[in-house]
Amino acid sequence: MATTTWTRHHVLSLADFTPIEYDTVLQTAASFREVLSRRTKKVPTLQGQVVANLFFESSTRTRSSFELAAKRLSADTLNFAAATSSLTKGETILDTAKTYLAMGADMMVVRHREAGVPQAIAAEMDRLGSRVGVLNAGDGQHEHPSQALLDLFTICTLLDPDHPRLELLKDKKIAIVGDILHSRVARSNIWSLTATGAEVHLAGPPTLLPQLFAAYGTQEGNQGAKEPLPITHDQSPITNRKLFLHWDVEPALQDADFVMTLRLQKERMTQHLLPSLREYHQRYGITRDRLKLCKPDVKVLHPGPVNRGVEISSDLMDDPQFSLISQQVTSGVAVRMALLYLMGGGKI
Ligand code: NCD
Repeated sequence: MATTTWTRHHVLSLADFTPIEYDTVLQTAASFREVLSRRTKKVPTLQGQVVANLFFESSTRTRSSFELAAKRLSADTLNFAAATSSLTKGETILDTAKTYLAMGADMMVVRHREAGVPQAIAAEMDRLGSRVGVLNAGDGQHEHPSQALLDLFTICTLLDPDHPRLELLKDKKIAIVGDILHSRVARSNIWSLTATGAEVHLAGPPTLLPQLFAAYGTQEGNQGAKEPLPITHDQSPITNRKLFLHWDVEPALQDADFVMTLRLQKERMTQHLLPSLREYHQRYGITRDRLKLCKPDVKVLHPGPVNRGVEISSDLMDDPQFSLISQQVTSGVAVRMALLYLMGGGKI
């Protein structure tokens, strides 16, 4: 397995990920997917290491997936649930993290409803001179790197199961549809998918698209995408990212190879941004009829949890000809094993 190129200690954002790092994660995850297909689905790689899952916000698949990934690597896992923790007695988040450090945690997987908490914990761990690696498992509306990496892995393994790599997506068209404004999944996916050379088309109601991009939106009725959105990152070697924005779903779906739909994040909406869920489904829901605009072999992704019948029609969600939703969940374990392995690599 390739570790020689890996120097990243924390995985907090994909904004500055390099093509080599993406390909290293993809290739390492492919090796672990092979491990997971064996009868004994466990390797001793992280034996004696402690992975602490600090989930300050609810989660089903991400938390379980990280826990299983750590266990498959033979690490000891500590699980923390905010509601039953000392946070309710007034302890600060950083003091909670320091408690886990004192118990010998080697890696911390952090989710929080506020953007920036994993970064703050990583900074504190560095300040204390610890070698703890911090992995962002979703921070507010900011980023969710492991989700975007598992989405990338799911798509790339479909195109070449043995050798998933970025270049497979060059010149593909990928639509991301729905509540982009509140979605950390979309933010991380924008970085990863535009790093491949694919055209990425965002579509959603204007009230659910980032205001920053408002001037670049395609007017209703105008089917052509205007100029690409100006996204760059100072630390990233990747230029020429091809990202477009639409207020209607149809131009984004036209000839798309992959469609990613996103949950309406009602818990993050502070005001009424939609007339009704029924109307949202009528205008932006992914249905069999709408998929006819895409390439014939189009595939649909959704990070879950799904509001059935809102962002995607219920029957389509369960149709293996189109839906990659359960493959995404399966990929999640291999990709998270790859991340924990690579981050723990220096210490094994
Ligand atoms: C996402 C999340 O929590 O950001 N889910 C996930 O991690 N699989 C998306 C969502 O909550 O809609």
